[in-house]
Amino acid sequence: MIKTRITEMFGVETPIVMGGMTGVGYAPLVAAVAKAGALGFLTAHMYPTAEALEAAIKEVRAETDKPFGVNLTILPSFNPIPYDEYRRAIVETGIKIVETAGRNPVDHMPDFKANGIKVIHKCTSVRHSVSAVKLGVDVISIDGFECAGHPGEDDIGLIVLLPATADAVDVPVIASGGMADGRSLIAALALGADGVNMGTRFMATQEADLHENVKRKIVENTERDTLLTNRTLRNTSRVARNAVSEEVARIQQDPTKTIEDVRALVSGARGRENVLQGGDMDGGIWTIGQSQGLIHDIPTCADVVKRIMSQAEGIVRKRLDTMAA
Ligand SMILES: Cc1cc2nc3c(=O)[nH]c(=O)nc-3n(C[C@H](O)[C@H](O)[C@H](O)COP(=O)(O)O)c2cc1C
Repeated sequence: MIKTRITEMFGVETPIVMGGMTGVGYAPLVAAVAKAGALGFLTAHMYPTAEALEAAIKEVRAETDKPFGVNLTILPSFNPIPYDEYRRAIVETGIKIVETAGRNPVDHMPDFKANGIKVIHKCTSVRHSVSAVKLGVDVISIDGFECAGHPGEDDIGLIVLLPATADAVDVPVIASGGMADGRSLIAALALGADGVNMGTRFMATQEADLHENVKRKIVENTERDTLLTNRTLRNTSRVARNAVSEEVARIQQDPTKTIEDVRALVSGARGRENVLQGGDMDGGIWTIGQSQGLIHDIPTCADVVKRIMSQAEGIVRKRLDTMAA
């Protein structure tokens, strides 16, 4: 058993987190992660209304009484996202853990604080971590350059970004990006983290509601099979390397190109429908991290968590202990 400030603060059995994931973080997966002893997050903006989010929260609670939370990804969007309504649903349903990402959660903090809700803010730089702590967030989840989704614009790998963040803030830090197994967990703890956040690893599980082709592709892909898109728009995304992302990267070699030149190609809805649900691996953009190179099977969430913990404990007891002697 590994006890950290994260296991203590959230009452979870392990310091493993599954962050919010668009197109992936639905109730059955979050419930499976919670039952496995890790901390999963429902992704609020996948639900069109606060009522739909409330129904998803009830769905998880029907499966387990273990802790879980809700992710609020605060990004500009063409279709207005009902953040205030989501916040009301979070408060009224008694959710006590929120993961925020994208913009800082300044507008939501007073309500969260007044209702005893702990906030994990996910960000990609030391300076944003320091600002978020000043706003009162309880935990920083720091996303390194390896991560799936939005790694920011600084390109700092987690091996430097994590200890730099841990040095700069006085709240617990979660290591995010590139974490996939017990080795990652022990390395993260050694670098100053109190937990690890994994997205890619939990996509390749039995309970993730994704087409089997997606899970098989994650196993088949190596750490080299991701691409960065939208760098020229200062909205960098790490996605899977496929025909569509290569086409976007080719178009964006010309720095005068705008979002209009790639909008249809980078559509998240298209990726979710064609790839994540349809299994056409060149049917659109889909998000994945470099840690896919460390993933070789499609176990249950319970097996993922059990295996990470026993590998981590084995490293401490056998490998590190003999080295220290
Ligand atoms: C398919 C997918 C969708 C994601 N969508 C979101 C999202 O909507 N909001 C968010 O905060 N993070 C999102 N993420 C990022 C994850 O929460 C997590 O920070 C990231 O996956 C960590 O890196 P890893 O994949 O190397 O473990 C997504 C990740 C994946 C793989």
